[in-house]
Amino acid sequence: MSDMMRSLIDILDLSPREIDELIATATDIIENPSAYSRKCEGKKLATLFFEPSTRTRLSFEAAMYELGGHVLSVTTTDGSSVAKGESIADTVRTVSCYADIIALRHPQEGAALVAAQSVPVPVINAGDGGHCHPTQTLADLLTIHREKGTFENLTVGVCGDLRYGRTVHSLIGALSRYAGIRFVMISPRELRIPGYVTASLQENHIPYTETLSLEEAIPDLDILYMTRIQRERFDDPVLYEALKDSYILTKDKMALAKEDMCVMHPLPRVNEISVAIDNDPRACYFKQVRNGKYMRMALILKLMREPFSPKEPRTLYHHLRCNNPRCVSRTEQELEPSFILTGPKDAPVYRCYYCEHKAR
Ligand code: NCD
Repeated sequence: MSDMMRSLIDILDLSPREIDELIATATDIIENPSAYSRKCEGKKLATLFFEPSTRTRLSFEAAMYELGGHVLSVTTTDGSSVAKGESIADTVRTVSCYADIIALRHPQEGAALVAAQSVPVPVINAGDGGHCHPTQTLADLLTIHREKGTFENLTVGVCGDLRYGRTVHSLIGALSRYAGIRFVMISPRELRIPGYVTASLQENHIPYTETLSLEEAIPDLDILYMTRIQRERFDDPVLYEALKDSYILTKDKMALAKEDMCVMHPLPRVNEISVAIDNDPRACYFKQVRNGKYMRMALILKLMREPFSPKEPRTLYHHLRCNNPRCVSRTEQELEPSFILTGPKDAPVYRCYYCEHKAR
């Protein structure tokens, strides 16, 4: 895979130094937008969104337009060959004949990795099912950087649907690389953070606690990252109804928080943050939206400038089959199941290369 294109599939594909560089570029774009207005002249971005989106897709498209480039867009499966049963690999191969870079959102976990393996252009993961959402994390990181001036020594609460909340998985991965970070996971039992996320925290000795109570957790937090309980990820509508109002951030709860705690949310919000909080100076969720466009501009520039992946190929094992029903390896035609070996030497674990679930 040494000739694989430079893509962004997982936030850990970017080193902390590269994140700093993207933040520096985004900051420069904010200050001198006209210096960037022709950087992608003659280039095309394809946005392939096979799940609903307002912000992420428009943010990518606005980013490409502000760089002077063009956009090709597919927004549902109904109007594309996916409805005819086309594989992800074939769809993106086709699109790569027209576009210089692809942003893909897809309901299956691992879909963006399959896409990146299939085409000679960079692929950006704009959300793969309940797995990852690295460009939302770029928006989140620029917001934290502008509000707090550092990624170190922060107590970060993540609240809501931690099981399927892909933005949370990517954010935890990114912040885990900074000193003095602590996480407080606030969720109903049914929506606890997946094992592959906590396994990585344990391996890296990052402190975290899990709790059911937002009220108890909030006084300690520097950042509270709220998420939506995602109706579309539930197989059981009764369970969704039972959990949908688990956490609602109100003025009363904000009164328990630090004076400078940041409230973040990837949006869309349903009812988990009271609109009465929108005017609180601690509310940062609309700043995240704005920051997302600048970080996506910086990312597109980087991927167009540095086309080849610096990543070392991983050793893959093919003797198992992934049990996660949402994993792309279960449906993509002739995709060989692939696993990586993780964990400590005395207790190694095989994890699916595509969705990171543990092999059973
Ligand atoms: C999030 C997503 O799609 O994962 N939204 C976004 O991209 N800003 C969160 C959500 O849909 O709840």
